[in-house]
Amino acid sequence: MSIERTKLLIVEDDPGLQSQIRWCFENYDILLADDRDSALEQVRQYKPAVVTLDLGLPPEIDNTSEGIATLKGILEIEPNTKVIVVTGQDEKENAMQAIAFGAYDFYAKPFQPEIMSLIVERAFRLHDLELENKKLHDLSNHEHFNGVIACSSQMQSVCKAIEKVAPSDATVLLLGESGTGKEICARGLHVKGRNKKGEFVAINCAAIPDNLLESELFGYEKGAFTGAVKQTIGKIEYADGGTLFLDEMGDLPISLQAKLLRFLQERVIERIGSHKPIAVNVRIVCATHQNLREKIEKGEFREDLFYRISEIPVEIPPLRDREGDIILLAKYFFNEFNEQHGSKLKGFNKDALSSMESYAWPGNVRELQNKIKRAVIMSDEKYITATDLELDTAPAERMNYDLRLIREKVERQAIVRAISHVNGKIAPAAELLGVSRPTLYDLIKKLNITV
Ligand SMILES: Nc1ncnc2c1ncn2[C@@H]1O[C@H](COP(=O)(O)OP(=O)(O)OP(=O)(O)O)[C@@H](O)[C@H]1O
Ligand SMILES: [Mg+2]
Repeated sequence: MSIERTKLLIVEDDPGLQSQIRWCFENYDILLADDRDSALEQVRQYKPAVVTLDLGLPPEIDNTSEGIATLKGILEIEPNTKVIVVTGQDEKENAMQAIAFGAYDFYAKPFQPEIMSLIVERAFRLHDLELENKKLHDLSNHEHFNGVIACSSQMQSVCKAIEKVAPSDATVLLLGESGTGKEICARGLHVKGRNKKGEFVAINCAAIPDNLLESELFGYEKGAFTGAVKQTIGKIEYADGGTLFLDEMGDLPISLQAKLLRFLQERVIERIGSHKPIAVNVRIVCATHQNLREKIEKGEFREDLFYRISEIPVEIPPLRDREGDIILLAKYFFNEFNEQHGSKLKGFNKDALSSMESYAWPGNVRELQNKIKRAVIMSDEKYITATDLELDTAPAERMNYDLRLIREKVERQAIVRAISHVNGKIAPAAELLGVSRPTLYDLIKKLNITV
């Protein structure tokens, strides 16, 4: 999702040739430079995908030393830029030297628009392909299992915990605010678990009326109650050999808590209307956004059941506390919806990016997903703006007075954001932050930031 994708920089000191080339590429966003300094400045500021570079630049117009130095400078700032060197006739050797230093291709004068267009177009295409490839590679590096996208150290610990516990038969309790990804993690546990060949059966305890929940979970025999016209298997039995995901566990009525506890202890169920015990081998994963300890104190949740279901509790942090994940996920959902919707949007503008970063995301990943889906559909511009996202960005934090902590927190946020803005590259991140590369490395080490 490079914002500067169609920018072409022409480095040429001959004004006549400059305007000829410019005329030939009027479909692109043209940038111009006539010496090394102005060329490097343009590259730093606009990151053009393709550069045409005259090798004979002032003050050394009779040899290639200035041109080669410019080439090296460009590639140092933006290693993925495709540089096409323009040489005089019979200067094959110079061209080959430039290619050895990393130029993408060369073009020997005199200027012929059709040939030059072909070379430039091909360079843009290659640049796009490489970018796409890198994007996919970055995403797959950040994808832990079953579509969980994350780069923050907080989520990496969650994913590690899940991978560790998945092959065991321990009952896992996933805790986290609404929309943090409890279900996606539960599916991850199933996919990486011993019972992966079986079904993943989810039941939302809050969504089913209390009087129906028991028959949903345990099933019933024909004639067990009015309306029980045929024998019906419950969700627990249905999940035999697989994983049962009990979502919103905090809403399980107290009357059913005792029954579920018995099942968790004995691993047998009885359908309603029958006394025949049926053994069920099922992996149990529970989730809730509620504070179960508070519910225990109020007498709304059984303490013995709590200990039984929380053999391994895993806390999923809210999105606002995950460093770097907001933008990573935003870009991921943008790509997904942009493709689905067939729109030609190019990404987010700067305001949109910073408004997403400062928003508190009470609805977490689900809210981010919805906002981006809406923005992709509604946006009229090339880039999604802060207005398209409709975020009410009230300050998300309470004031803290410890200066050292505040400084470290702000430094940390700025570094993590800068690194995620430039897709993990240190040199451009240091430039964004206005510090040298070694200083940035020192800070990364001091603040214990995972890159
Ligand atoms: N890390 C992630 N990477 C990619 N998609 C995610 C991630 N976390 C959540 N999602 C997506 O966000 C949405 C909400 O996730 P999920 O349903 O797992 O959350 P939840 O905690 O169960 O939410 P709720 O409390 O509302 O039930 C889903 O569409 C899910 O696919
Ligand atoms: Mg859920």
